[in-house]
Amino acid sequence: MSTKTKKIDQSEQFCIDTINGLNANPKYLSSKYFYDQTGDQIFQQIMDADEYYLTNSEMEIFATQTEELAKTIALNGYPFDLIELGAGDATKSIHLLKQLISDEMDFHYLPIDISENVINLLSETLPAQLPELKMKGLNGEYFEMLKEAASFSNRRKVVLFMGANIGNMTPEEAAHFCEDLRNQLMDGDMLIIGFDLKKNPLQILSAYSDSKGVTKSFNLNLLRRINREIGADFNTDKFDHYASYDPISGACKSFLISLQDQQVMINGESISFNKNEPIYMEISQKYNLDEIDAMMTGCGFKPVKNFLDAKEYFVDSIWQVG
Ligand code: AVJ
Repeated sequence: MSTKTKKIDQSEQFCIDTINGLNANPKYLSSKYFYDQTGDQIFQQIMDADEYYLTNSEMEIFATQTEELAKTIALNGYPFDLIELGAGDATKSIHLLKQLISDEMDFHYLPIDISENVINLLSETLPAQLPELKMKGLNGEYFEMLKEAASFSNRRKVVLFMGANIGNMTPEEAAHFCEDLRNQLMDGDMLIIGFDLKKNPLQILSAYSDSKGVTKSFNLNLLRRINREIGADFNTDKFDHYASYDPISGACKSFLISLQDQQVMINGESISFNKNEPIYMEISQKYNLDEIDAMMTGCGFKPVKNFLDAKEYFVDSIWQVG
């Protein structure tokens, strides 16, 4: 008999995490499960919402400071691998790729994404737009694929982690993540990382409770996904969305609130919700430049350069190991 433990697949893990989270006190669900096919579409609508400034701010940085970005990561022109964590549709990074190609930099682009769909799509669309681009898409979890990317060549690495995706971790989780990342890299390697900055609290709050209710449906979609994929009978009319922002800690949190006492059947198990009981859905952590500096230097990164948009809403910050 094999002593190997059975590998838990993604859908089993989704079920385990969901049941654990809803049996906890306080109840929680993991925001990493927002992104099924419908979730991806609703997130696109969030990025188009008037109140959601993040995407525009980071796009401005990549579209208008491209030459300086490319120059900063070029070093003395040493060849490198550009590894993007959570590449998505690469609409922001494509500006940098174009610039690096026209600068005749010797580099390979290695986008990593958890979604096979995303990687397949990128592998079609990018070579069509940038025929000179040398690329290899990697489908899987960040750190697993980062190891694969590291064994791909002994060129120096430049890691791109954009979109304020680090915001979906608490500051403690983010510090651990950056430490793990740093341990995967070698002296001289670089990291470009996007953070949403602390700003007027009302502006942050409205980005996460938009007037058209897109963020609400984004959160409720996770209940619908649980209904579909795990077998549950959530009635989404009996939950409302509530966002909060604490300007001191910088934690912007989303909750679903049960509008009445109710029982929900999930995978054959009955779970009770009290009237007004919250389910903690997501953190979108905001930082100031000093907090970012303290966290990154604490993980062994040296500051290279900060790139901010004109309104100073967002920073793409460049760090080097060593
Ligand atoms: C994709 C993690 C950057 O936190 O701003 C947007 C996700 N959630 N609106 C964010 C999200 C609600 C987004 N990130």
